[in-house]
Amino acid sequence: MKLCKVKDYKDLSRKAANIIQAQVILKPDCVLGLATGSSPVGIYEILIERHQNGDLDFSEVSTINLDEYKGLRPDDRQSYRYFMNTKFFDHININKLRTFIPNGLEENSEKACRDYDKIIEDCGGVDLQLLGLGHNGHIGFNEPCGAFSCGTHCVDLSFSTINANKRFFDSETDVPRQAYTMGIRSIMLSKKIVVVVSGTDKAAILKKVLCGPITPQVPASVLQLHADVTMIADQAALSQI
Ligand code: F6R
Repeated sequence: MKLCKVKDYKDLSRKAANIIQAQVILKPDCVLGLATGSSPVGIYEILIERHQNGDLDFSEVSTINLDEYKGLRPDDRQSYRYFMNTKFFDHININKLRTFIPNGLEENSEKACRDYDKIIEDCGGVDLQLLGLGHNGHIGFNEPCGAFSCGTHCVDLSFSTINANKRFFDSETDVPRQAYTMGIRSIMLSKKIVVVVSGTDKAAILKKVLCGPITPQVPASVLQLHADVTMIADQAALSQI
């Protein structure tokens, strides 16, 4: 794993945007695996700016997002589809028909997951996967559990995740209790992975991810086994190492 130590969130966003920009330039029809949450917002802002300056063309790019809440409509302001459209896709020249996110409205979990795995397969897999890190070590919505997951699956969100994500909702009771997420195996099959971690609140879990044993109790620890991971972390996130 390559560890890229940066000063702060701004620096982190620029470094990650540079890697994504290089990927899109080198392979214009690449498949980007994307994340939501606070961590990638600065990256998306920089990529939008570079697109608007004429330096970045997304017309042939496909995207596959990690996860979506089960039960939320795509136009629900808390859905990850809404997040991706408003924070990124609406501002670049991407073909929205090639931006994929699990179908939160599909009540049949088995079907939703099977359909999403087929989409990933049809795209030929992910060239570059962008990840954030949950406070409990989750990646996507792969929560700590007894075994690493394989393909897309429906998860019961942990208390820690509901608690962390309630900031986006009116109240904690509004946070959906389930989500569809890409599995660990699918994430590990990505050719390249870039993880961005910022802030002192992530310092304890980042130490476990980088220095602890590889265990499904800390899902991101599995990244130690991937051949091409770049971990971009700011000073605050690295403060316990
Ligand atoms: C989001 C996702 C999550 C987040 C993680 C960190 O699509 O898959 O794993 O990356 O919860 O969230 P933030 O960046 O808000 O701290």
